[in-house]
Amino acid sequence: MAIERTFSILKPDATARNLTGAVNALIEKAGLRIIAQKRIRMTREQAETFYAVHKARPFFGELVEFMISAPVVVQVLEGENAVLKYREIMGATDPSKAADGTIRKLHAKSVGENSVHGSDATDTAAVEIVQFFSGNEIVG
Ligand code: CMP
Repeated sequence: MAIERTFSILKPDATARNLTGAVNALIEKAGLRIIAQKRIRMTREQAETFYAVHKARPFFGELVEFMISAPVVVQVLEGENAVLKYREIMGATDPSKAADGTIRKLHAKSVGENSVHGSDATDTAAVEIVQFFSGNEIVG
């Protein structure tokens, strides 16, 4: 199986409730390695660029406001099949539909305040990672 990298964000609802360690424990328990991590205050420009694919959606404004409302933790995760594995442990976007034991089932508050983001494919991950990390910040 391929060793992949994926991009992760611990969102404002997670950092506000002091859940960085709890989420990281679930990530590491799943066998993914956190090979880069930093806590940042996302700028409006960064949030709008990151979520540009959702620009036409009715929730876009709300999503951007939420992502800049408090600190986030951005991460690069590495491991076998990392993109799919992280999506599995995150659970469904809507926490009411997320499987038991997933990050969103355990911690997310709503479809908007859903605690974590993970890339949907390896090519998306590559684009998302370079938006937030330079090469020397990633130590595999
Ligand atoms: P994420 O995986 O970060 O990618 C897009 C985000 O949009 C998603 O998680 C949700 O946080 C957010 N989102 C999706 N649907 C809705 C919705 N109906 N209302 C508010 N936010 C949403």
